[in-house]
Amino acid sequence: MNEQQRKQQSQIRTEQANVDRIKKTSSEDMIAKYFQQEYEPQSPDIKQARKRKREDVQFHYDFSIPEDMEKIGHGKKFLIRTYGCQMNEHDTEVMAGILSEMGYESTTVTEEADIILLNTCAIRENAENKVFGEIGHLKPLKLENPDLIIGVCGCMSQEESVVDRILQKHQHIDLIFGTHNIHRLPHLVKEALFGKEMIVEVWSKEGDIIENLPKARKGKIKAWVNIMYGCDKFCTYCIVPMTRGKERSRRPKDIIQEVRHLVAQGYQEVTLLGQNVNAYGKDFEDIEYGLGDLMNDIHKIDIPRVRFTTSHPRDFDDRLIEVLAQGGNLLDHIHLPVQSGSSEILKKMNRKYTREEYLELVRKIRIAMPNATLTTDIIVGFPNETEEQFEETMTLVEEVGFEAAYTFIYSPREGTPAARKKDDVPEEVKKQRLYRLNELVNKQSAASMKDYAGKKVKVLVEGESKKDPEVLAGYTEKNKLVNFKGPKSSIGKIVEVEITETKTWSLNGVMVENTVEVN
Ligand code: 5AD
Ligand code: SF4
Repeated sequence: MNEQQRKQQSQIRTEQANVDRIKKTSSEDMIAKYFQQEYEPQSPDIKQARKRKREDVQFHYDFSIPEDMEKIGHGKKFLIRTYGCQMNEHDTEVMAGILSEMGYESTTVTEEADIILLNTCAIRENAENKVFGEIGHLKPLKLENPDLIIGVCGCMSQEESVVDRILQKHQHIDLIFGTHNIHRLPHLVKEALFGKEMIVEVWSKEGDIIENLPKARKGKIKAWVNIMYGCDKFCTYCIVPMTRGKERSRRPKDIIQEVRHLVAQGYQEVTLLGQNVNAYGKDFEDIEYGLGDLMNDIHKIDIPRVRFTTSHPRDFDDRLIEVLAQGGNLLDHIHLPVQSGSSEILKKMNRKYTREEYLELVRKIRIAMPNATLTTDIIVGFPNETEEQFEETMTLVEEVGFEAAYTFIYSPREGTPAARKKDDVPEEVKKQRLYRLNELVNKQSAASMKDYAGKKVKVLVEGESKKDPEVLAGYTEKNKLVNFKGPKSSIGKIVEVEITETKTWSLNGVMVENTVEVN
């Protein structure tokens, strides 16, 4: 850690180490102390966030577990509950990797755990409510076992209001740390174990790139690979640019090395991750190298399947389309969040494209990749969305022919520009719009599935189906879930399956004999 980081580090030490001591101190005292310290409020502040500069990002290749923490977890267990997106799931793999290197073993049994971390999501209010519910549930456990360490990390911990609320009402939490502090986990655990105080460490710095963090990946078949962090798009409804910091790209050589490593370990699929992957490389000052170039280089690597998420239509350039059109391991499923079909709403959302521009991009993609499957994200009930504007979303969904969509009711997030807008759309109307949209999306998904009846598809077999251990489950190149009968030896391989039945969200089938692809 350098001096600048040290200064920016916000470490708040309250008077309590455990619940007993907490009870003696009023929460007002704690809050006062919290703000008197060198903590720089990390509340979402769009004006501040927009001022951030690129050049501060530094790359580190020197992560290591301090010697005195290497064996600290022997005989102990950890549990990490993950909320939200793939980025969080992957962060959990990193935290699990760090804790494993400290000697901890993972457990799924809450009562067995010596460390419980809640890796949180702030994208919508209901995500936050779930976490606060879980924080409440964990209190009796902490009272029973004061040695248990409970930590809150992820996007919610970047929000000042959340940190305040935990300090005031949930004093059984031992540790709060931000999305830029994950590599500090060994030190934070040490302080939580040996210190007498509650630890809060949320760096206001936008985050460096730490390259050599250990990862305990969830499976051995598919892997996440971060290619960039943060987001500079500032959509007016979105908290992410504040919780995840500015856009910063990993160097191509580091990404390619990680993918090669995964190939050597037998992984069959990688998903390149970023909040806005199409902005990859825009922050490089020494090289001209974007997502298209990266995909082109990964295209040459011997990994059967490569996906990427999430795309922003604005940055989806011709070079990327040209590279994706080569096919091969670059799959023709594109997740392209549109958010709304109304140009007026898109403007209010600061999406920086119109309905027409989005449709033009779809047209270009379809010319280059005629079989491409498109899926999307949509928000209904953005402040003051009119019935006509919502209808424009419905017609856009039909026109593009999305085969699946993640659909959401707009949820105001403190500190974002949209949250300051008065909203004349009643909640009931928003719910009805969501319902109507979901009906349409379901109809389109079912129709797209029907086309597969009697056809053969390539399936990457992930394991037994959740509902029936006699049935195997996996995904097609276009990310359709397939349940089928086949030998267990095909798990981890790509096989051909003949589709016998189609449902709204999945396909059933039978494996075609001798179709295991050898890689
Ligand atoms: N309310 C509702 N949905 C949101 N999303 C992001 N912010 C909000 C919000 N405040 C949705 C967008 C995004 C997806 C990850 O979550 O559709 O693409
Ligand atoms: Fe949020 Fe995505 Fe917009 Fe970035 S591009 S602000 S992550 S919705």
